[in-house]
Amino acid sequence: MSNLSNKNIVLGVSGSIAAYKSAELIRRLQDSGASVKVVMTKSSVEFITPLTMQALSGNPVHTELLDEASERAMSHIELARWADILIIAPASANLIAKLSHGRADDLLTAVCLATSADILIAPAMNNQMWLNRATQKNISELKLMGHHVLAPEDGKQACGETGPGRMVETNQIISIANTLFSSGSLSGTKVLLTAGPTREPLDPIRYLSNYSSGKMGFALAEAARSAGAEVTLVTGPVSLLTPKYVVRHDIETAQDMLKACVEHASSCDIFICCAAVADYRPRRREPQKIKKNDATLNMEMMRNPDILSNITAQFEQIFSVGFAAETTNLIENAQQKLLKKKLDLIVANDVSDPEIGFDSDHNEVLLLWANGNEKLEQASKAIISKQIINRLALIYHENRS
Ligand code: C5P
Repeated sequence: MSNLSNKNIVLGVSGSIAAYKSAELIRRLQDSGASVKVVMTKSSVEFITPLTMQALSGNPVHTELLDEASERAMSHIELARWADILIIAPASANLIAKLSHGRADDLLTAVCLATSADILIAPAMNNQMWLNRATQKNISELKLMGHHVLAPEDGKQACGETGPGRMVETNQIISIANTLFSSGSLSGTKVLLTAGPTREPLDPIRYLSNYSSGKMGFALAEAARSAGAEVTLVTGPVSLLTPKYVVRHDIETAQDMLKACVEHASSCDIFICCAAVADYRPRRREPQKIKKNDATLNMEMMRNPDILSNITAQFEQIFSVGFAAETTNLIENAQQKLLKKKLDLIVANDVSDPEIGFDSDHNEVLLLWANGNEKLEQASKAIISKQIINRLALIYHENRS
């Protein structure tokens, strides 16, 4: 059954030639079992009529913010509360600009501001408008606000030009909307997760570390939690808020991280090792600040424990998931790690690309397991995490049955 079954969806339509695709989207959403109410901006009705949208959705179409009749029927607040998710398809450059500034001068923007539901945005516009720095800045702002943006596709446009700006196809919108709802696929399981970097002290005021932001691990913790798991998160130093209902343990060094994981692993079913653990640490932590007396400084380093291998060796029953952050030979290296570390699933990503690298809000990964693989196209870390958890749950239940 689709996760969209029995869900209430507000479909926002703004002024773009791609509005014709939203007619098909209504049908597809209904086929998935959802109820759809359509909110149209003033300019969108120049592209497709409210009558068409009403006939397809089976519900009155809403266009006015300050209209007595529509306020009586369903105000922007009621629509905002009714929605389990808001899908804006197509989202024009103007609408994107207004949303990124929190404006509420028409019904659609007011609903967006008043809702606590997830907002999924499918932009559509001329390629130069999309590439314009103002639009890109607004898009970054929307992502920071936690909205899910489906980057438009490259191709021939209605204006005759070729480039990025075509709204993604309806099946992709449906598939992403699906992943935004909890499937309950990890209900009854306990998940242990590591995230962020470790810090390996050199002296009382200095340490060795890396650029890991912890965003991926935290997004996974949130996704596992919303799939019904009880989640324990062991994290290095990051400046992120703990996801709701997740139990968090803060550590600094790789050795501390291993200790915390060993403490919790025996009661867990699934171990997801997302942390960027320092492979080496200084052999000696100087008790006093190291002085710059000499032109060079030599420091002896020693290997840190491999947390993932330690846990899979010590807790054979645990379903283990590792990450392979690579800059070369992605698939080969990931496959080797899958075998060497005795993992059930590995998430491989190319960290040489800054768009999807360590501190980015986005990722694009390849999942590999004993008898399969799946490529997850570039998307926000929230969406990628939900997709990883969905796949993980399928393999986990398959292995356990
Ligand atoms: O061998 P490599 O460091 O590339 O393996 C990456 C995977 O191993 C990641 O899942 C990472 O969290 C984990 N790891 C670990 N302990 C280390 C190094 C990496 O658990 N010391």
